[in-house]
Amino acid sequence: MTATPDAKPLKGLFIRTHGCQMNVYDSERIRDVLKPLGYAPVDAPEGADLVVINTCHIREKATEKVYSELGRLKQMKLASGGKMTIAVAGCVAQAEGAEIIRRQPAVDLVLGPQAYHKLPEMIARASRAVGDRLETEFDTIEKFDALPKTRDPDGPAAFVSVQEGCDKFCTFCVVPYTRGAEMSRSVDDIVAEVRDLAAKGVREVTLLGQNVNAFHGAAPRLEGGADWTLGQLVRHLSKIGGIERIRYTTSHPRDMDADLIAAHGDTAAMMPFLHLPVQSGSDRILKAMNRGHTADHYRDIIARVRKARPDIALATDFIVGFPGESDADFEATMQLARDVGYAIAYSFKYSARPGTPATGMHGHLSEDVKDARLQALQSLLRDQQTAFNQSCIGRTIPVLVTGKGRNPGQMHGRSPYLQAVHFEGTETQLGALVDVQILAASLNSLSGDLVRVRETAA
Ligand code: 5AD
Ligand code: SF4
Repeated sequence: MTATPDAKPLKGLFIRTHGCQMNVYDSERIRDVLKPLGYAPVDAPEGADLVVINTCHIREKATEKVYSELGRLKQMKLASGGKMTIAVAGCVAQAEGAEIIRRQPAVDLVLGPQAYHKLPEMIARASRAVGDRLETEFDTIEKFDALPKTRDPDGPAAFVSVQEGCDKFCTFCVVPYTRGAEMSRSVDDIVAEVRDLAAKGVREVTLLGQNVNAFHGAAPRLEGGADWTLGQLVRHLSKIGGIERIRYTTSHPRDMDADLIAAHGDTAAMMPFLHLPVQSGSDRILKAMNRGHTADHYRDIIARVRKARPDIALATDFIVGFPGESDADFEATMQLARDVGYAIAYSFKYSARPGTPATGMHGHLSEDVKDARLQALQSLLRDQQTAFNQSCIGRTIPVLVTGKGRNPGQMHGRSPYLQAVHFEGTETQLGALVDVQILAASLNSLSGDLVRVRETAA
């Protein structure tokens, strides 16, 4: 095993992350809380002292993947003579709880998304072989308070969790049951984290939350105790020296207020990218989903955002094959996609999740129908994505350099519209903003020539 300069032995920590960006963020924080205990990240689960599987419960496939992965880990644990500790974190942990240990007894610890700060204590207890292998209580604020206040960023772009949970109860979705009630972090805490990241060279922050635009963080010292909206938070963070770019994800159409829309136009750091899930283009299906808005209400928000920021890249999520979805309902979804024109979109077949209202609805569709609809929608979305990327050819755009390419001399970064951009450069440009003239585009990336380095790397 690796040794620190003072020869203190480190323990190997392997974290596998499934699902959304919230989980990516949580995995980073798990790494941070375990660091003082001597855990250092390793690249593979083989031989690791602690393996954490950070799980996603949003669709059935994701849950089954976790159990087959646990089967493979059990073999590795046996090979290690039982020395490996296996922890299951995230939303499957929250939803299935003790059932996980029943189905796979090799699992040592199960902890829900609100319990990461308790991980060190749980590990200590598990190693003394006493007690609780299960921690899935909801207490988001306690979690936010107990996590280390500073972190080691992985590069010039970092996630910052500002909000967790959801009270919207869309009828297909497990999030309100796995992540709990909607809860915002305090403005002071967020500002302190972003300042610390900026001081460590971070240029771009993505504010995270399941319903991030429902943000209503308390601001006791800054604003006489009144809660802030996401628009206010973005404007404030944009003034922190070094923070050049701000993004937020994921939003709900019902919380797109006028100030947040205006911030897309008047705040230079606000990136021209909006991920606003719509799920369906049919009012009947939107109602059955309990989304609380119509397709035209969504179109109207998009028109207002485009007016504030004409070049904005739009992203969304769609579900096809919701119970009762007719051919006409599906056609309304296709029409909405044609009307908006997405830069990128994620589309899923409806998957019945235990305990959600849609599971008990009439009119569940066959896999064949769902497959055919998904293919038709994805083909349209792929064309739109390619067209959007091609529309960048000939333009010179600012790119935040985030990494080295496969071959020497190749660098990559991301555009304001969140596209991957490849160009010939040098490692000294890592973390800098550079201008790249775009010469070619494919479905998933852009490439071009470096024109100038805007600023030197921090
Ligand atoms: N079936 C299919 N897709 C789902 N999503 C959430 N729940 C389900 C489900 N039961 C999708 C939604 C959401 C994204 C994160 O996952 O589109 O926006
Ligand atoms: Fe799930 Fe709906 Fe909440 Fe999004 S808004 S997390 S889809 S319940």
